Amino acid sequence: MNVHLIVGARPNFMKAAPIIEAAQQHKEKISCYLIHTGQHYDAVMSKLVFEDLGLPKPDIYLGVGSGTHAEQTARVMVELERIFVSKKPDLVMVVGDVNSTMAGALAASKLCIPVAHIEAGLRSFDRGMPEEINRLVTDSISDYLFTTCQEADTNLLKEGHPADHIFMVGNVMIDSLLKSQKASDSSRILDRLFLRQNGPVSAYSVLTLHRPSNVDDKDTLLDIFDALRILAKDSLMIFPVHPRTRKQIESFGLTSLFNVLDADMDNGKNCSRPVFDKINCTMPLGYLDFIKLLSHARLVLTDSGGIQEETTIMKVPCLTLRHNTERAITVREGTNLLVGNNKQKIIAGAHSQLKKDFSNIQPPKFWDGGASHRIINILLNKL
Ligand code: UD1
Repeated sequence: MNVHLIVGARPNFMKAAPIIEAAQQHKEKISCYLIHTGQHYDAVMSKLVFEDLGLPKPDIYLGVGSGTHAEQTARVMVELERIFVSKKPDLVMVVGDVNSTMAGALAASKLCIPVAHIEAGLRSFDRGMPEEINRLVTDSISDYLFTTCQEADTNLLKEGHPADHIFMVGNVMIDSLLKSQKASDSSRILDRLFLRQNGPVSAYSVLTLHRPSNVDDKDTLLDIFDALRILAKDSLMIFPVHPRTRKQIESFGLTSLFNVLDADMDNGKNCSRPVFDKINCTMPLGYLDFIKLLSHARLVLTDSGGIQEETTIMKVPCLTLRHNTERAITVREGTNLLVGNNKQKIIAGAHSQLKKDFSNIQPPKFWDGGASHRIINILLNKL
């Protein structure tokens, strides 16, 4: 079986790595051809994470880069169509909910190539999110819908997908997390960020922000930063800045608010008296450094999807700066609390999360490191 596995943006890489590894154990029956669309192209967003995950070099790199949604999606589709026509894969596998996911599913299904979607059925029920459109379109044309939780199965059934297309296999992102936790022990990130200086680790929080709904409007961003400034008075905050967010901070003229830890990040223009003197910005981190940083944090504030899941497994309190989540299981069974992007709610939510004890929570069903093996076994039996 010749499978084309499509990845494009950072959160895809953690999902693809364990699938490739599981497929390699059945080399005689299945071969995975890895296609990187180049939606994320910076070394820190792509190459570094590939290396940390032990992902092989992509078989093809399309280099589509940035653009509007239509431009980016169209460029990926045109390139993939050419490859699918010439190589005739038996199956195209797409992961997650980014533009490259939807573009891969569309290009394949129009050529009548079966599509498998890993992480199917998640719904925020918010069509203002580009990812929700990508999820709906991808699922509607996929033949194999591999889900992370029961709720995703229910969503798919309600939308009319046949039950025999849906397979609850667990969470491939957690496969990567569990496999990489030991390797991340040797990360020196806590020392590099001055969080441990010959003694115990200092108390700190981690912040990540990149959703257009949070970072593309100056007043919203300032309201969030105001809440963070107040929270950072209690303990240091580490902020690895996503390229989209960095671009927005620069275009709104807000760079001087922050401490910059990475020389690379401010080209030597580091300001001497930042307004938010306990919020330390860094470049985006590698995967192993980032999971080590998360695992020691007292609180994580984020608008990412995957981090809600990772903190649930790590039992680290998580505050999600969104009004909804497609990963409601992390609120119900995990460590997550939704607070939106209002200043007072963020502050109150942080205080409430810090008082809770999550030490006894159990991981959701099948978030156990075995999801990618389940996927490969199902495909080997079906195809
Ligand atoms: C994309 C995904 C989002 C995912 C996120 C993880 C879509 C619609 N969005 O959002 O679901 O959570 O990745 O990071 O697919 N840029 C760089 N270097 C890069 C990549 C991007 O500088 O390597 C900048 C560019 O200015 C670009 C902007 O970031 O215009 C946004 O990149 P894009 O891939 O369009 O979306 P993300 O915000 O990264």
